[in-house]
Amino acid sequence: MYVTVAAAAVGLLLQATTKRRSRFASLPNNVLVSRLKDIVCSSWVSGSSTSKSNYRLPCWESRHLTTSARRSFCLNRVHNYNNIAMAPKKRVCIIGSGNWGSAIAKITGNNVRDRSNQFESRINMYVYEEVLDGKKLTEIINTTHENIKYLPGIKLPENVVAVPDVVEATADADILVFVLPHQFVKGICKSIKGKIKPDAFAVSLIKGFDTCEGGIKLLSDVISEHLGIECAVLMGANLAHEVASEAFCESTIGAKNKETGMVLKNLFDADYFRCSVVSDAHTVEACGALKNVVAVGSGITDGLNMGDNTKAAVLRLGMMEMIEFIDIFFKGAKLRTFFESSGLADLVATCHGGRNRKLGEALVKTNKTVPELEKEILNGQSFQGPPTAKEVYEILKEKDMLDRCPMFVAVHHICQRKMEPSKFISLLKNHPEHKAN
Ligand SMILES: NC(=O)c1ccc[n+]([C@@H]2O[C@H](COP(=O)([O-])OP(=O)(O)OC[C@H]3O[C@@H](n4cnc5c(N)ncnc54)[C@H](O)[C@@H]3O)[C@@H](O)[C@H]2O)c1
Repeated sequence: MYVTVAAAAVGLLLQATTKRRSRFASLPNNVLVSRLKDIVCSSWVSGSSTSKSNYRLPCWESRHLTTSARRSFCLNRVHNYNNIAMAPKKRVCIIGSGNWGSAIAKITGNNVRDRSNQFESRINMYVYEEVLDGKKLTEIINTTHENIKYLPGIKLPENVVAVPDVVEATADADILVFVLPHQFVKGICKSIKGKIKPDAFAVSLIKGFDTCEGGIKLLSDVISEHLGIECAVLMGANLAHEVASEAFCESTIGAKNKETGMVLKNLFDADYFRCSVVSDAHTVEACGALKNVVAVGSGITDGLNMGDNTKAAVLRLGMMEMIEFIDIFFKGAKLRTFFESSGLADLVATCHGGRNRKLGEALVKTNKTVPELEKEILNGQSFQGPPTAKEVYEILKEKDMLDRCPMFVAVHHICQRKMEPSKFISLLKNHPEHKAN
């Protein structure tokens, strides 16, 4: 139906431009609609290079598509992909139930119910069991449909079922959505290794790195290696409470496999949560981890009562260090990926509103340690900036490259209470970006 509507819209557009030469413009509307339908279906379903070259819209014709018609086509290709391919329905499991895990449970719970031709409608959500006022969190979620600890005030769809046993939660799943603080990833992988479907695949929403001997690892690679399955990522300017309130935002899916990217777009995309898909998955993920370090720096300048100009400088220098770090450790990054939601937009959002910014400010205004502040400010949640800064520091030190990313290094020292936060500004003033070429 979507294809028909979109194709009809494009048909009208093309017919309205009969003065221009087009092999479509002279066709009757019904033939045009059917031709366009073929183009959409064949080129996006088969994925073969022959069909692509046969059916690609000639550029001047595609120039005639309005932005909304083009967007409509993009959505059509995704929404119809599984219908046409008659793929079996996929079962989803969310591993994690914190602030972001619960917000994503709301989006995906609604999507699988609305896209029931592509997904099984029940979603298991693995919940690390806790007792609140004498009641188990899983029982509270399954009766009130609200995660009162990590996302209070937001109703979760009733098809999202809290399960305290991770092996039971994941056993039948085709798509494993990893969304828990990164320190728990390896333990979870160990518990479910060999007990999940062999053809399942994963998507990681986790921001952080893993350090290994002689290097730094992306968590998607950790998941992939531990479980022997493919792992894509989803990252973006997505502060959980805003997403849960359905305030519009964008997100980026990084998937090396195009088909996986399309399935994931079907799972996550909503009118208030627009997802784009890129193949440069490593850059998407690394940006998601590194921006938390910059956010601590942004909070430090807030604590020092500097203004918006200083904060903008932190964002810019932070982005330069992100590009530098990714260039050193994850070869092949595309510059355009830094301008996706997972890059620039996430950096801006986190440096203004996230919990790591709050931490930076508190590091200036109090003498407390990071663990003390975590306990005081976050009520069971965790800061991702300090562990990521530590991992980044250790690998840079090992490679004798501390001077390449001085802001990341300073944030680590300030989080460790080994550097006075007030010295952060002189670091900005003397950043290598300001040295004469
Ligand atoms: N919150 C956001 O706005 C947001 C947005 C985008 C991405 N993220 C990323 O998503 C990931 C998860 O963050 P979150 O905000 O959902 O988590 P959170 O910090 O809100 O919650 C902590 C979670 O860890 C669980 N937990 C505690 N101890 C555990 C253990 N021993 N084993 C397993 N689980 C345990 C808790 O039950 C809870 O679900 C992080 O990497 C974060 O950077 C968060």
